[in-house]
Amino acid sequence: MMTDKPPIILAVDTPDLDIARQWIEVTHDYICAYKLGLEFFATFGADGVKKLREASDADLFLDLKLHDIPNTVAGAVRQVAQLSPKFLTVHASGGRAMVSAAVAEAPQVTIAAVTILTSLSQTDLKEIGFAQAPLESAVGLARLADQAGARAIVCSPHEISAIRAGVGPDLVIIAPGVRPLGEAGTDDQSRTMSPRAAISNGATYLVIGRPITRHWSTGAAAMRDRAAAIANEVSGS
Ligand code: C5P
Repeated sequence: MMTDKPPIILAVDTPDLDIARQWIEVTHDYICAYKLGLEFFATFGADGVKKLREASDADLFLDLKLHDIPNTVAGAVRQVAQLSPKFLTVHASGGRAMVSAAVAEAPQVTIAAVTILTSLSQTDLKEIGFAQAPLESAVGLARLADQAGARAIVCSPHEISAIRAGVGPDLVIIAPGVRPLGEAGTDDQSRTMSPRAAISNGATYLVIGRPITRHWSTGAAAMRDRAAAIANEVSGS
C-alpha cells in the first residue's frame, strides 16, 4: 500500500480521537502513514490506536521515542508490536544494545532511530555530555543505529545529506520540519526545507503536520485539497 502513495507521513497532532479518525479518512489517498505521538499515546493508549486501526487500514507510525535499558525497551516493543505499527521510534542515544533489542523484538516493525532532538542547542548538548557539534553527533548516532539494525532514521532536513553520506543508500530517512513552497518560516519550525529539496537531499519520507491539518478548520474538502497539492509538490508534478 505504501508504495502507491506519496511518501508523506501525516503528523496526527490532535487530542481528539474522532478528529484523528476523520483526518485519516479525508487524506488517505495522499498519505502513506499516520504519525501518532506521545501525547496521543498518553491520552488514548493502545486502545486508541486499536480504534484507529478498526476505522482504517492506514499504516501507523508510533512516535514513542523509547529510551531505557535494553530489557525494558524490548518489553515495551513486544507490547507495542501487537498494534502492528509500520514504524516505531527509539532514541539512538539509548545505545547499540538497546536499539538491537528493539529490532530483535519486532522484526516486522521498522524501528526508526531518533538521533539528536532538534530542540537541543550546541550548549544543551555540551551540558549533557556530547563533545561534538550537533551534526557530527547526529551522523555518529545514525551510523550506530544502522549498525545496530535500525532500518530507519528520523532527522532534521538539514542533516539528511550528511547522514545519507554516512550510512549509505539503504537506510530509510524520515524528515520532519518540512514546509511546502510559500510556507517557509511558518509555525514554530525554525529551520525548514521544501519537500522537493528534502527528497532530493536523500529523504525517503517526509513528516508533515500543520501545513495540512490546519486546513481542517475550514472543512474536510479544504484539508483534502491541501494534502493533494502537497502530494503533487512532493512528486514534482
Ligand atoms: O506540524 P508540523 O509539520 O510542524 O509537524 C511536524 C511533526 O514532526 C510534529 O509531530 C513534531 O513533533 C515532529 N517533529 C518535528 N521536528 C523534529 C522531530 C519531530 O517537527 N525534529
